[in-house]
Amino acid sequence: MGNDNQTKIETTFHSGELTRDSYEAWLRYAPLHPDQAKEYAPWCETVVVASSGHAQLVATACEELTNGIGSMFGRKPQEVRNTDRERFLLIGTLDSADLQGILDEAEMEALGEEGYVLRTVEQPQRRFIAIAGRTDKGALYGAFHFLRLLQTGQRISDLRVVEKPAAKLRMINHWDNMDGSIERGYAGRSLFFHRGTFVADWKRIRDYARLMAAVGLNAISINNVNVHETETRLIAPELLPSVAKVADVFREYGVRIYLSINFASPIQLGGLTTADPLDPQVREWWAERSADVYRHIPDFGGFLVKADSEFQPGPFTYGRDHADGANMLAEALQPYDGVVIWRCFVYDCLQDWRDRSTDRAKAAYDHFRPLDGRFRENVVLQIKNGPMDFQVREPASPLFGGMRLTNQLLELQITQEYTGQQKHLCYLVPQWKEAIDFDTHALGEGSTVARVATGASFNRPLGGFAGVANIGDELGWTGHILAQANFYGYGRLAWHPELTPERITDEWVRLAFGNDPSVVRTISRMLLDSWSIYENYTSPLGVGWMVNPGHHYGPNVDGYEYSVWGTYHFADCHGIGVDRTVSTGTGYTGQYHDIPAARYESIESCPDELLLFFHHVPYTHVLKSGKTVIQHIYDSHFEGVEQAESLAEAWSGLKGKVDDDRYASVLSRLQQQSEHAAEWRDVVNTYFYRKSGIPDAHNRTIY
Ligand code: GCU
Repeated sequence: MGNDNQTKIETTFHSGELTRDSYEAWLRYAPLHPDQAKEYAPWCETVVVASSGHAQLVATACEELTNGIGSMFGRKPQEVRNTDRERFLLIGTLDSADLQGILDEAEMEALGEEGYVLRTVEQPQRRFIAIAGRTDKGALYGAFHFLRLLQTGQRISDLRVVEKPAAKLRMINHWDNMDGSIERGYAGRSLFFHRGTFVADWKRIRDYARLMAAVGLNAISINNVNVHETETRLIAPELLPSVAKVADVFREYGVRIYLSINFASPIQLGGLTTADPLDPQVREWWAERSADVYRHIPDFGGFLVKADSEFQPGPFTYGRDHADGANMLAEALQPYDGVVIWRCFVYDCLQDWRDRSTDRAKAAYDHFRPLDGRFRENVVLQIKNGPMDFQVREPASPLFGGMRLTNQLLELQITQEYTGQQKHLCYLVPQWKEAIDFDTHALGEGSTVARVATGASFNRPLGGFAGVANIGDELGWTGHILAQANFYGYGRLAWHPELTPERITDEWVRLAFGNDPSVVRTISRMLLDSWSIYENYTSPLGVGWMVNPGHHYGPNVDGYEYSVWGTYHFADCHGIGVDRTVSTGTGYTGQYHDIPAARYESIESCPDELLLFFHHVPYTHVLKSGKTVIQHIYDSHFEGVEQAESLAEAWSGLKGKVDDDRYASVLSRLQQQSEHAAEWRDVVNTYFYRKSGIPDAHNRTIY
């Protein structure tokens, strides 16, 4: 497999530059415009390396810098230890002699472990640009930032950049299985596994690590959270050497490796009769396994756990709770500074649809909120952005802000399971930004999800972001080439949650397609509009689902209506929506702090886009927009299809301005999207017309 891939990449590269463009993604380093090259060149002809002691990542940073500059200028810079040149780049760690005194003590302190500075320094006889971190990792992130400035045409003659990540953990979760398949993967097969063993395409994995580090990501779990029999063995002696090799590759880019584990491993792997977290033998077994893992991988990150969720084993079997389970593993990892990431996606997946009182949205909070304060310091709870499951529109999970004494991690789904499966363009950064900016009011105004998840609000030692990867072994990594922007944007937000979607989008388009203003404008607009377009032609007003069961692609309004999964819209001939109020419904709104709780509780103040998530209303209910619910459904679906068509039109205008390969590949997906959007429109509109009997005010075709 590895070798096949290698040949495939090389042969296609020879047949045209474009495939190379899609493979290199945001690290294309395309030749600079001559004016820019002229402006930058005096700085970029020489790189001086300044580091003291062992600094592996400074070597990586330097390699990236010289290769990137070489590709943009057509000539690699000279790499030296000293220089008598008048201008140059100086890369390294701030404790080295050359860089001393650049920052004062307080500035140094503020940089933390991963921060960096980019600073134009004027000294008698010489001027240089310092690219420096307190640690070698900071220097690596600094190098990528500097390269980004060149690629996006920024000025570099007066730099005063100081950056550090908002969160400690900036993680990618792969849902890869060892047979090579990827759960909810839409871009080919696994980069890591093939037919029960490891793929040995180290170049590909290294290039992936580069893409991750370039956006500041520092952690990866390589196997699916649903851990089957083969993957259970990843922590066994026979597979650990291979895991260690993967870890070696990621280490070069400052990325730590994690594994998803099977809670029942002591039984399945260890031959014990129980996996009870309070059983001394079980604890000993985990301690011993952990020690072995760290013998192979001394900087191993830790375990990711999906327990008592969707048929995965967990502590409930033994009458124990999630804190018992997580703490047992945390104790085993503690001696090595390892971390347990415990997922909160826990709910009853065998619900009776006739039962209107059970509400899946309430489950995570109900399970975990009472355990606040019981988790060890090296446990982090990983919480999906919304209370259901990565729908096109959901409110923020009330668990954020609900717990004060527990480390938390915001889980986002980069892979587009419910948002068009990388056949449709659906740029999720604006959606994530809403989740991140949601004000929980846990400590009054300003306690945003970003502040809670990064640990800032409650002064937690750990926290951050986890994104479910949209990456596979297809040459362009993400299937839909424009879906690369989702991965990029996730990394940028995880580093810096304050960034605006506009800023991130502008950056990505310039990196991926160059600085032609009309190209930047067109692609940025397409990306920024795409989430609301997708929402327009799919499930309306926050109610969610309406997809085909199992694979979750395409419209099926009642697909989950009479099933066990707890995901219902309750449409009848009068109305639709889920009453989640405290006064008449399931009581879910009561899980929020007072201000958001009151906003969602009342129909008057509940925002239109979430109305059906929180309330059951008649089709004739008038929205804040002035339209009735039924007319909104019709209008948004007609409009959504027109908008999807306009995406394809906008893209057509770029013919000749973007490379032919990417042009053709994106165009064919956009055309598919328009056709499929029409299917969504007709199914949804027809369903509600037949249910309600209310005709479209504009008399358009409904079947
Ligand atoms: C979704 C998805 C599953 C996945 C689960 C999870 O339900 O459909 O494939 O396993 O989320 O997050 O664990």
